[in-house]
Amino acid sequence: MPTLSASLLLLANRVLPAVDLPGDTGPMDYARWENETADGLIEVFDSCRDRGAPLRRALDVGCGYGGKTTRLRERSGKDVHWTALDLAQEHLGHAGNWFESNGHTEIARTRADAARLPFADGSFERIVSADALEHLPEPRQALREFRRCLHPEGRIVLLFNPWASPRGSHLGDLLHLPWCQVFFSRDTLVEATRAEAARKAAQMDAVLAERVIAHGESLIDHFLHHVHPTRIADLRDWLAEDTGLEIESQRHFGPGPLRDSGLISMPWCEEFLSATYAAVLRPTASVSSASS
Ligand SMILES: C[S@@+](CC[C@H](N)C(=O)[O-])C[C@H]1O[C@@H](n2cnc3c(N)ncnc32)[C@H](O)[C@@H]1O
Repeated sequence: MPTLSASLLLLANRVLPAVDLPGDTGPMDYARWENETADGLIEVFDSCRDRGAPLRRALDVGCGYGGKTTRLRERSGKDVHWTALDLAQEHLGHAGNWFESNGHTEIARTRADAARLPFADGSFERIVSADALEHLPEPRQALREFRRCLHPEGRIVLLFNPWASPRGSHLGDLLHLPWCQVFFSRDTLVEATRAEAARKAAQMDAVLAERVIAHGESLIDHFLHHVHPTRIADLRDWLAEDTGLEIESQRHFGPGPLRDSGLISMPWCEEFLSATYAAVLRPTASVSSASS
């Protein structure tokens, strides 16, 4: 028997239409989905094209299955050397297959923790990180590492899904009620995710049902262990403390009808209405001039 809060969440979840998410598909489909949803990242990447040092070496931190890395690679031109970095060997393996099937074997791959980058100081004119900051256990240390490995006149392109954003739970394959992580406890979210997977599985044949149940469990594991409640305000605090970086420009990508709404960039609204927050970071003036 589900708890009252889980029942309420499941009821609201069933009333609302599901959204278009990659779901439990194969690695190449997932990489393709990453690739096809890179428009916002490319816009922000383009926005700093002519800023700072000329682009020769670029790093994609938390590259996942590599779908966005190839978009960046194609956009930046063939003279730029790209390195795709991820902590998960399995993801890097899928990225390698994606690069190969898209004719991009020139993209280097490195397995490392974003908080301990295996590169010399000032190695990259661009460091890009999309949808990864909220998954890093040590985000502030990662930002310090980005700064260390950044060319003194380089730029960081950072996009992430704030915790209070409509889909901040990262459970959207099964729980598509916006802001569910704001209104319900972690226990309720876990219970409802499991119940929703079981409900869907009951309508399928045994093989598909098993996959839906397994996908539900992997979403729960991801939510409990790999999604950290990172807010836009947290990023600003970390930057203000000791990372040696500052925001040069920022953008809020809203969901559907709110996409172009002025509301989204207003204080208090931005945490809740930004599906994705994007910032271009540069070395702070004092650090930049001291190290150049
Ligand atoms: C949601 S995926 C984003 C993938 C891709 N950048 C995109 O936007 O489609 C987050 C990625 O960050 C990686 N990641 C998590 N913790 C990490 C860490 N400490 N260092 C490097 N990568 C990490 C995960 O393995 C995962 O591939």
